[in-house]
Amino acid sequence: MIPFSDPSASYKSHKDEIDQAIRRVLDSGWYVLGQEVESFEQEFAAFHGPDLHAVGVANGTDAIALALRCLGLGAEDEVITVSHTAVATVAGIEQAGCVPVFTDIEPVTRCMCPKTLQTRISEKTKAIIPVHIFGQPCQMHEIMKVARRLDLSVIEDCSQAHAAEIRGKKVGTFGDLATFSCYPTKNLGAIGDGGVVLCEDPEKAERLKRLRQYGWSNARESLHRGVNSRLDELQAAILRVKLTHLQSDNEKRRRLADLYDHLLGDLPITLPHRNTHELHAMHLYVVECDDRDGLMTHLREQGIGASLHYPLAVHRHRAYAARIRGAEALPNTEAFYQRHLTLPLYPELPDQSVEKIVREVHAWFEKR
Ligand SMILES: Cc1ncc(COP(=O)(O)O)c(C=O)c1O
Repeated sequence: MIPFSDPSASYKSHKDEIDQAIRRVLDSGWYVLGQEVESFEQEFAAFHGPDLHAVGVANGTDAIALALRCLGLGAEDEVITVSHTAVATVAGIEQAGCVPVFTDIEPVTRCMCPKTLQTRISEKTKAIIPVHIFGQPCQMHEIMKVARRLDLSVIEDCSQAHAAEIRGKKVGTFGDLATFSCYPTKNLGAIGDGGVVLCEDPEKAERLKRLRQYGWSNARESLHRGVNSRLDELQAAILRVKLTHLQSDNEKRRRLADLYDHLLGDLPITLPHRNTHELHAMHLYVVECDDRDGLMTHLREQGIGASLHYPLAVHRHRAYAARIRGAEALPNTEAFYQRHLTLPLYPELPDQSVEKIVREVHAWFEKR
């Protein structure tokens, strides 16, 4: 079986460094929120640019909820996002007590459409969460223009786009805050759960550090109603290793995507779009075609882990159906969900596997 993603291959390719980092933590006797977390936070912030602050949390869903709470948002405050995302984005909004509202994607980038966004804004709208889906940067300049004009906060959901760039500037540095998941399959993946919130404002960073641990001040007095969403030392130490390889791992992803693009170019398939002024993080390689289910079945029969991101748009899940404003008019999202298919892609995927996958895609089109 060729999996669509392979976290164990990532561990094996950086094994010595990761084993050393794990041993260092085990020997230290300090296992939650310590020196490793602090160092990871500093390194992660510096990786994104000067004068930034990173706060390690337990996962990417908490990162979204805590970022919203850090802005003082909660009950009745509307947050506009897309239905074409991991359920986690919407779960994070509701975890903070906010009200999600859906806007459509635009078909080329598959990310939030800045024009449709404007039609969803109400008096209750307080924040926008664009999602850099599959590693493709959103149109941040257009989204920020809308947000600044209407005094709305922007939280970038960067969980699928670690180290993606727009004109040389990393995603996560355009909005007021940015959130990252470090789930094992992500481009910067832990060996367990992890998440990060990134921001420029040091006061917000301090507030986030309190919120992630019972609202505690340094004197361990709860100043706010907090939660327990701490990052542990083992995951932080592993993420420090992985961060040093993130750029080269992303390069490997892009090179494999080039190979797919080259070998699939003559088929009636829509390939992932890439703008020349952007660096795509290529978290997932997602194509679009007619009879996607037929192609997926064929590939799976050949031992190829073709899969769906996602089987359902969020507004089509029973938990969210018919209760989220904006869900009634998402034509581009609906069309995308009829046609999308994720092909295997991860840094260690051998070229021969890509060639085999492509051969099987060609074989399926020929026999149709
Ligand atoms: C776009 C997006 N947002 C948020 C998350 C939530 O991350 P986690 O699974 O770490 O809670 C994920 C990961 O699944 C994601 O892909």
